[in-house]
Amino acid sequence: MSTVIAPRPILKWAGGKQGLAKQLVGLFPDGFRTYYEPFFGGGSVLFTLRPGRAVVGDLNHWLLDTYRAVRDDPAGVARQLDGMANTKAEYERIRAIAPEGRGLVERAAQFIYLNKTCFRGLFRVNKKGRFNVPYGAYDRRYYDPANLEAVAGCLQGVEIRATDFESCLADVQADDFVYLDPPYFKQGGYSDFDRYTPGKFREPDHARLAALCRKLDASGVRWALSNSDTPHVRELFDGFRLTTLTNRRDINLDARSRTISELLITNYA
Ligand SMILES: C[S@@+](CC[C@H](N)C(=O)[O-])C[C@H]1O[C@@H](n2cnc3c(N)ncnc32)[C@H](O)[C@@H]1O
Repeated sequence: MSTVIAPRPILKWAGGKQGLAKQLVGLFPDGFRTYYEPFFGGGSVLFTLRPGRAVVGDLNHWLLDTYRAVRDDPAGVARQLDGMANTKAEYERIRAIAPEGRGLVERAAQFIYLNKTCFRGLFRVNKKGRFNVPYGAYDRRYYDPANLEAVAGCLQGVEIRATDFESCLADVQADDFVYLDPPYFKQGGYSDFDRYTPGKFREPDHARLAALCRKLDASGVRWALSNSDTPHVRELFDGFRLTTLTNRRDINLDARSRTISELLITNYA
């Protein structure tokens, strides 16, 4: 019989919250009906919280199809992954396969494999939507079968919506709770670069998000939102409760990191 372990992210995702997840969850409200997470990414917050009922969303379709496959057929995904070797030739062969038209399980294994063996776990596609990150040459296991099973267990009953955050939250109700972790606002003009989706998350998107948070607040929905600690973000969320958290982040290609502070904005005490 396999031992049940606590789920950890199965993907390396820019802006991943592993380092902060426990602290964040400690700042969430005690009781709520359904947990919503419309910028799901690597999923570290849901995997730490493990709520009873949840709806998750993201604009990256390939990412969310991967979670669907893992939720519904973890053994099938594991079988595919077991047949993939961590070599440059195999990486280039798998990267060249067009994901369109492949089954959900095959696409999920392709995504996990490429994400964990590519250079620094970047998600980058070219204009034709083809994954174009070079091989990472890391001598390590790219998936843990017990963790894949634990993640599948955590995703049971979770509704997965591959859509923009506004439509993901269209049916939120007053006793639900929403955690929002958008691409962070960047000081100096435009917002975060396009590392997750072909489009960028720009200043108007941050304004749209702040407007939605005010609307949710007016309907009695509790929410918590992470973002960079910048004057613009503080201005957008003026009137809400701000908590400063410190997190370690990679800053450059030689993988050094530094501690930076960021905001958790909440509409509840
Ligand atoms: C900072 S990451 C979330 C990281 C996640 N909390 C974790 O721990 O890995 C932001 C996510 O927002 C997604 N995203 C970008 N624009 C979006 C939009 N308009 N609606 C929904 N999701 C979006 C990206 O694909 C990315 O996965």
